[in-house]
Amino acid sequence: MLRAEQNDYICRTGPGTPMGELFRRYWIPALLAVELPEPDCPPVRVKLMSERLIAFRDTQGRLGLIDEFCAHRGVSLWFGRNEESGLRCPYHGWKYDVTGQCVEVPSEPVESGFCGKIKLKGYKLIERGGVLWAYLGPPDLEPPEPAHEWATVPATHRFISKRTQECNWLQAMEGGIDSSHVSFLHKFNLHNDAWLGNKRSANYLSDTRPRFEVVQSDGGLLIGARRNAEDGHYYWRITQWIMPWYTIIPPFGTASLGGHAWVPIDDENCWTWSMNWHPTRALSEAELEPMRAGKGIHCELVPGTFRPRANQDNDYLMDRRAQREGRSFSGVDGISMQDASIQESMGPIQDRTRENLVSTDNGIIMARHRLLKAAKALGKAGGLPPGCEPAHQRVRSASLVLPQDVAFKEGAKDALVAWPQTAPVSV
Ligand code: FES
Ligand SMILES: [Fe+2]
Repeated sequence: MLRAEQNDYICRTGPGTPMGELFRRYWIPALLAVELPEPDCPPVRVKLMSERLIAFRDTQGRLGLIDEFCAHRGVSLWFGRNEESGLRCPYHGWKYDVTGQCVEVPSEPVESGFCGKIKLKGYKLIERGGVLWAYLGPPDLEPPEPAHEWATVPATHRFISKRTQECNWLQAMEGGIDSSHVSFLHKFNLHNDAWLGNKRSANYLSDTRPRFEVVQSDGGLLIGARRNAEDGHYYWRITQWIMPWYTIIPPFGTASLGGHAWVPIDDENCWTWSMNWHPTRALSEAELEPMRAGKGIHCELVPGTFRPRANQDNDYLMDRRAQREGRSFSGVDGISMQDASIQESMGPIQDRTRENLVSTDNGIIMARHRLLKAAKALGKAGGLPPGCEPAHQRVRSASLVLPQDVAFKEGAKDALVAWPQTAPVSV
């Protein structure tokens, strides 16, 4: 349970809020690179942590992320003309470069130097692993570039999608940390989803009373779910949570790894990013085809948007018959929309003063604690917040069988590192 002011503190991320200031110290996945495919392509609206911005790629291919609104009289530059190394406001022709610097005010005499005094706010935007990453923090405190394994494997080895989610980022992310829901909410997907589960894991996962052990890692948490296995062994599924908002799902057999990121759009909406990747091989057509079709951790979108086809307005295409007949535990189809529907049902910002946490919520409790602590330490301690270091990001989840007397953090130590050119450890 959180007090109302703690809930506000941890959920709100607009400019000037403590959590917003913390998040502005990380590189943020902002766009898929395909959204800005070529020089002078149409600009794209981007809202991050309640800031309305415009992303564009100029004539030289340089990336810009600037204030959405023209400094003259506030027109949205989404209507702008992306031409000759800048974005031109269509109202009176003021033009801005990728840094937000105004480079032309056609109505004023050039010799007045007026445009030199006009600058919109502008942030750095870089391309890594098929994603455009934004840095919204103080320029002198910029962290090293993103090193998450999914952002560093070749394009053939990964599949990345994103969708909007109509709730606060934290309740969405808490769903990714809370592995105990898998045995319930996704119960009937464990045997019929090609990516989620093999025969062995499905057997284990039918045990709905795993023991959870949560320990701190350098960049976040390790959430170990333990189930009984053959003679004197435990079957462990270990989830990585990497600050501030990444999770990696323990793999199944030889399948690809999966992961998520939850990025605040504003306090009542977030982006849910979903990635599949394999460190040592290309994804096969048989793997990619269902991902493109919105299966596994991905989802089907309303064409031309990032809004899921199943959404609040159509009750997530709830199928009571499928629920009754044991084809879907909640009646909603697909893992991602099962997650989104129950998370959005909590309301735009979950009221955590009324929750009743149990032992399986330990991961969530510790994640909140680490986030609050990092926000409070900001500016005092100096240095990078946890999760910024490349070593914090080059990690993996694992599923493995260990002797009962071995602590999982020790037994799985090697399996939890993204060693280059090694396959994930997974049974
Ligand atoms: S409002 Fe943009 S140029 Fe006038
Ligand atoms: Fe889930």
